[in-house]
Amino acid sequence: MTGTRSPELYPPAREVKNATWTVNDVHGQYSYSNPHADLYRYLSQWSDMELYLNVGYSRPGQYHLHVSSHLRLINRLADSLLSLHAAGPYATERRLLDVAAGRGGAAIHARRRYGLEVVGVDITPYNACRAEANAREKGVWPQVRFNMGNAHRLPLADASFALAWSIESPAHFADKPIFLKEVGRVLKPGGVFTLADLLVVEPIATASPENRQIYAEFLRVWDVPYLESFDSYQRALAEAGFELRRAEIVTRYNLDILNRDCAIFLWLSQFRWLYRWYGRYLRWRTGANLDHVYEHVLGSHRALRLGMIDYGLFWAVRR
Ligand SMILES: C[S@@+](CC[C@H](N)C(=O)[O-])C[C@H]1O[C@@H](n2cnc3c(N)ncnc32)[C@H](O)[C@@H]1O
Repeated sequence: MTGTRSPELYPPAREVKNATWTVNDVHGQYSYSNPHADLYRYLSQWSDMELYLNVGYSRPGQYHLHVSSHLRLINRLADSLLSLHAAGPYATERRLLDVAAGRGGAAIHARRRYGLEVVGVDITPYNACRAEANAREKGVWPQVRFNMGNAHRLPLADASFALAWSIESPAHFADKPIFLKEVGRVLKPGGVFTLADLLVVEPIATASPENRQIYAEFLRVWDVPYLESFDSYQRALAEAGFELRRAEIVTRYNLDILNRDCAIFLWLSQFRWLYRWYGRYLRWRTGANLDHVYEHVLGSHRALRLGMIDYGLFWAVRR
């Protein structure tokens, strides 16, 4: 990190938008039609990226970037969500809304482990179709169903759910406060909501022109318009009519591990013969272009190693 922070020169990071971002970048990343999708092809060597699209949660000694790490994150969110639900006014209702459900892994798990009925909504046609196919393949359809839809204008009636979650997706949303108001609209008063997302650590991301550039590159490689911070999310939840019950930063259980893996990848990439050989192998095995993966890993590592990105979990009750 270089330079000193001047609020006049460097406005809050969450006000800094990724200038080139459009929703087509999100479609491209999740439909394998932009170079950033190659990271998922690469990761498919270790985990099931056709079901789960989150960075997971692992304690020391637990194997990360594996189906089990995705499930640990989902269980952590679900266990606290359901204990709040059990103490609330709709304890017998079993319908969950999954906003930006991706390829359906979390929703399917919610059915299998917790017996919930799930309605998932996602903006990317590839993911909504894949999620539906996954639910049928796993034998949980129609108790778990998916629709196309935008988190900013959910295609759902007012006060129609008592349970909702959104897992590592809001980062991609152009307006997180509007999304939170939408969740508030479709939740019944007393309904419960949990959220997992990437967060910007503003004092670090805006500390110098160099840091701001590193932060902008992180947003670009992940096709993210901007990030909220731990504090701004709490304010936005309150303004959307939620009462926060619990919030945690769990960076050391996922992003720090990802960063360690990025560092190993970049160190190994110095050996040009190894890089060339692995590039051919990766293309054959997964279809991914190693240069695209390298760019993504480098952009991630530069931001993560400075600590400018955190990972937060929030649980809240609709007032
Ligand atoms: C990182 S993935 C997470 C998916 C899933 N929650 C999981 O944990 O596997 C982000 C998802 O957000 C979806 N998404 C992005 N912007 C959206 C929007 N405005 N409305 C609905 N879905 C959106 C993407 O299509 C993608 O499926």
